[in-house]
Amino acid sequence: MFYQWTESMSVGVPLIDNDHKALIHLINRLHESVSAGDTYDVLDELMSRLVDYIDIHFVREERVMEACAYPETPGHKREHGEFVAYIRGLRERFSAETAADLAGDLASYLKDWLNHHILIQDMAYRPYAEGNGPAAKAAEAFGPGLFDKMRTSSAESR
Ligand SMILES: [Fe+2]
Ligand SMILES: [Fe+2]
Repeated sequence: MFYQWTESMSVGVPLIDNDHKALIHLINRLHESVSAGDTYDVLDELMSRLVDYIDIHFVREERVMEACAYPETPGHKREHGEFVAYIRGLRERFSAETAADLAGDLASYLKDWLNHHILIQDMAYRPYAEGNGPAAKAAEAFGPGLFDKMRTSSAESR
């Protein structure tokens, strides 16, 4: 199934939406790689993209939640921590032999994350973050959105 970001997924902060578009793009890449049978190379690249997602998106989002005094920030950060632990475990198990299994596992993990974290937990801070000046400023401190960043870097490597 091909996923597409729509306005109904917006959390009210354009840079964060752009990061989420990057994650949806990665889910689609993963699906393509499973059907094309080239999971090793794709997974190798995807894992570094996911490290970017952790280092840039999660930190951006946490600063935004703090900037708009979102009361559920600590619990939200804990969920981010679970994602970090999952990706760490995946990287440890990654090899040519395990790539196909891990790709399937990661695909269902990310779909679940989209449905249960992004569309519920991230969406919950929207009323606090939308139109909030300090939140928008906090988001900008981490540079361009990951989807834009990804498109620029793939254009450069061509
Ligand atoms: Fe998010
Ligand atoms: Fe989040």
